[in-house]
Amino acid sequence: MLAGKRILLIIGGGIAAYKALELIRLIQKAGGMVTPVLTRAGSEFVTALSVGALAKSKVHEALFNLTSEAEMGHIELSRSADLLVVAPATADLLAKMAGGRADDLASTLLLATDKRVLVAPAMNVRMWQHPATQRNLGVLRGDGVLFVGPDEGEMACGEYGPGRMAEPATIVAAIGAALGGGPLAGKHVIVTSGPTHEPIDPVRYIANRSSGAQGTAIAAALRDLGARVSFVTGPATVLAPAGVDVVRVETATQMAAAVAAALPADAAVMAAAVADWRVANASGEKLKKDGSGKAPALEFAENPDILASVSNGVKRPRLVVGFAAETTDVVAHATAKRARKGCDWIVANDVSPATGIMGGTENAVTLISEVGAESWPRMGKDEVARRLAARIAKALA
Ligand code: C5P
Repeated sequence: MLAGKRILLIIGGGIAAYKALELIRLIQKAGGMVTPVLTRAGSEFVTALSVGALAKSKVHEALFNLTSEAEMGHIELSRSADLLVVAPATADLLAKMAGGRADDLASTLLLATDKRVLVAPAMNVRMWQHPATQRNLGVLRGDGVLFVGPDEGEMACGEYGPGRMAEPATIVAAIGAALGGGPLAGKHVIVTSGPTHEPIDPVRYIANRSSGAQGTAIAAALRDLGARVSFVTGPATVLAPAGVDVVRVETATQMAAAVAAALPADAAVMAAAVADWRVANASGEKLKKDGSGKAPALEFAENPDILASVSNGVKRPRLVVGFAAETTDVVAHATAKRARKGCDWIVANDVSPATGIMGGTENAVTLISEVGAESWPRMGKDEVARRLAARIAKALA
């Protein structure tokens, strides 16, 4: 996938630096070549000796190194690569990049390059969520910097949340996509995700417990394979992935309109937990108790079925994938749903409370297609997403 591609890999300081060693190995396995750059902080976590031995290359460390200036100046070093990858990227390194600083070799290379830059952040969850870091991310995204991760999970510091560096295999996929070499390059995929909010009045709404985690992971996995992703999301609790076109909606009606506007597409993956009904008599003003002790009566109207209308519409994508969240007879219900909705595949999961799947980080799914039902073992939602994205790539090949 990366045959002949030259990757300049900047290894920042952080406990995730040890994963950079595995990353070097995987890039090489995919046919790529790695020129490593180790920041001073990075060298506190991994040694130049192990990095250089794995990369089979000189490790660049210092900005003012006359020997290396004679061999190859920093300008040339930053331009002879096909892609610059920063993994792990610390909050400090992101701040330097966003500010255009060039006070060490890594930041100078990042400022001097004319190539794309892919960043895999890794830091403590509070540092990641800090407004300063989020501001820097916004600046860097605006500058066209690509991001992969961070993942959410247990961290070395004992805290839990977003901040873990993306797994090396995911970074390699993102490198492939950044270089335009992914199997879904040139393909457009629409992904719906998250819950919908159906207003009762201007301050109250009806919602569901969907976090948007599975849809978000699917959008990121499709992006990593090179797809252009239109990500139509309700008010999810997880962050939208970088590198996709995000369309934020609240209601099912808005989601239906956003999906219609995003067509045509090669595939559509409808992972959103769309409310079946909206409040037909939603009030324009906040409902108040009138002292009579009588509760207001809500009337409901059925929402548009986005999956069914995309499946049966004139602009039908080649592949339409729906989801089925069931609590009983999962396969039977999902098989019936596939026929009823007219989609190609249904990804069915058991969301009974005992499974801990709804709102959790793992999923156990059954893929229902024209050839029958295929149960996958329980695994992380990211892994489900990667498998599904790989199947979609195969189907569209
Ligand atoms: O009918 P049910 O809600 O169980 O079907 C689930 C599938 O249908 C999911 O893929 C969901 O995104 C999609 N759906 C939709 N529009 C609706 C209801 C469900 O796209 N109004």
